[in-house]
Amino acid sequence: MSARGLVDRIGGPERLRTILDRFYARLAVDPLVGFFFAGRDLDAIAAGQWAFLMRAFGAVERYHGKNPASAHHDLAPILRGHFDRRLVILRELLRDEGVEAADIDAWIKVEESFRRRIVADEPSRT
Ligand code: HEM
Repeated sequence: MSARGLVDRIGGPERLRTILDRFYARLAVDPLVGFFFAGRDLDAIAAGQWAFLMRAFGAVERYHGKNPASAHHDLAPILRGHFDRRLVILRELLRDEGVEAADIDAWIKVEESFRRRIVADEPSRT
């Protein structure tokens, strides 16, 4: 299953936004990755991620926001364990939200495709 049509399958753009609000609420209190979000505007981050994923999932043609490679420059280095932890939380949340298993896999695959551009200790990073 590809990510194309994913936004419609999960219930539309507003549903995506609701899921992302819940995602960042969970990330922010997580013992392993929560510190990245301390003092940050979660609503603005969720809005930015929403715009990014609308494009990444093919629901719209354009995204004018920060690119994932540079969006994290002001943060502590994002290590593999952080990236993996974020995906565990995402997977749990999507399951709790009743998203179909094939759609969860398609979503995670899109996020995985950005790993090398985001993770500081990724050996094959270019
Ligand atoms: C452990 C992994 C990650 C952490 C801890 C993290 C954390 C953050 C934080 C704190 C910001 C806000 C930066 C700011 O306020 O300037 C941000 C922005 C952003 N992140 Fe991540 N992120 C992670 C992974 C990802 C992934 C996998 C993607 C894409 C697939 C992504 C895409 C973005 C984008 C596009 C923005 C900019 C949003 C905007 O302000 O318009 N991030 N991230």
